Order: sequence, then C-alpha cells, then structure tokens
Amino acid sequence: MHPQFSVYIATSLDGFIARTDGNIGWLYNFDDMSDPNEDYGYAAFTAQIDCMVMGRGSFDTVQAFDDWPYEGKRVIILSNSLKKAPSGYEDKIEICTGSPAELAQQLYKKGLRHIYLDGGKVIQSFLSAGLVDDMIITQLPILIGAGLPLFGDVADDITLKLDWSRTYKNGFVQSRYEVTKH
Ligand SMILES: NC(=O)c1ccc[n+]([C@@H]2O[C@H](COP(=O)([O-])OP(=O)(O)OC[C@H]3O[C@@H](n4cnc5c(N)ncnc54)[C@H](OP(=O)(O)O)[C@@H]3O)[C@@H](O)[C@H]2O)c1
Repeated sequence: MHPQFSVYIATSLDGFIARTDGNIGWLYNFDDMSDPNEDYGYAAFTAQIDCMVMGRGSFDTVQAFDDWPYEGKRVIILSNSLKKAPSGYEDKIEICTGSPAELAQQLYKKGLRHIYLDGGKVIQSFLSAGLVDDMIITQLPILIGAGLPLFGDVADDITLKLDWSRTYKNGFVQSRYEVTKH
C-alpha cells in the first residue's frame, strides 16, 4: 500500500520548470497573475492533499522567498545531503531519504494518503518507479530555450489519460492527466 502521489506544476511550453540556474521569475511575468481571484486551481488541489513532498533543489529556491508559502501544511524534504532542517525551518519541514518505493512505504506508515509531489528530479524518479498517479500541468506560453526539465529519460513508455484540459485568458493551458501504465 502506498499513498496517492499527485503532481501540480507549471512549465514553459518547451518543458522547463526553471532556468538552468534555478530562476523561476519568468513564471510570474504574465498578465492576470496579480488577480487575487485566480489561483489556477491551486487551493482546490492543495485542499485534497495531506502533505507536500519536495526535492532539496526546490527547497533551496523556497528558502530564498520572503515568506514561507506552506504555512499550516506538512512539508517533507527529500535529501541525502541535508541532515537536519536549516535554522528557522525546524518546525516547518521534515527530512526523508530513500528510494521512491521506500519513501512511499515510509509516508504511508506515517498515515499520509495523498501526497503533493514537487521538484523535477523527484517527479522524474517517482514516475520511473511507477508511483505517480496523476498530474496537473500548467503550460505557460513562453519558450525559455534551456533549463531544468520537468521530464527526463524513461526506461519504458508511460501512458497517460487526459482527464480534463482548460485554458486561461492569459494563454495558460492546464491539463490533468492520470498515469495509466508504467
Ligand atoms: N515550475 C514550477 O512550478 C516549479 C515547481 C517546483 C520547483 N521548481 C523549480 O525546480 C527547481 C528544482 O528542481 P530540480 O529538478 O532541480 O530538483 P528537485 O527535484 O526539487 O530536487 C532534487 C534533489 O532532491 C533530493 N532527492 C531527490 N530524490 C530523492 C530521494 N529519493 N531521496 C533523497 N533525496 C532525494 C536530492 O537532493 P540531495 O542532493 O540533497 O540528496 C536531489 O538533488 C528549482 O529551481 C525550483 O524553483 C519549479
């Protein structure tokens, strides 16, 4: 038994989640981004999840933010290099390590049933292990040419079923996929 693993992430049209140096400023440079009534389904998505599990690479970016964006949410950082939470984050994060299959068991034993999986390398490793159940991907109308990819090599084809797709006035195209075969 393992938790449901769901992805909610934004990419450039050419498939990158960040520039090569990790910069994500381009994600926020679109019309309507300041509309407080439009959250691109984020609140509805996060209302369903028990916990966020993100890679250390993504955590590095979040540490540079002025405010902790996950107040009130349980957050687990996957890292082999971080041995304890950095100063100021002791009550905000837990650190876990292991293969995706081991982590899935660990998380299930912690009572977690629905996980928000975040970070490109983390998503790729869980996809390869056949553990990702569904993905909401928002494609932004921009080509950035190079960067950190959402997807990578796969040993075998992974087939997806499109659940729904919707467009926003500013050109965002958001689609929900279920992973049907690994
Ligand atoms: N566009 C978006 O919506 C979006 C969303 C999220 C993140 N981002 C951006 O994406 C970038 C980070 O993505 P990324 O692909 O470079 O990295 P990532 O997936 O966030 O983190 C990768 C790191 O996580 C650790 N890790 C991964 N799997 C592990 C496992 N099974 N056990 C233990 N540790 C594990 C390793 O760190 P150690 O070296 O510490 O072991 C690995 O180097 C950042 O720039 C972030 O801002 C963008």
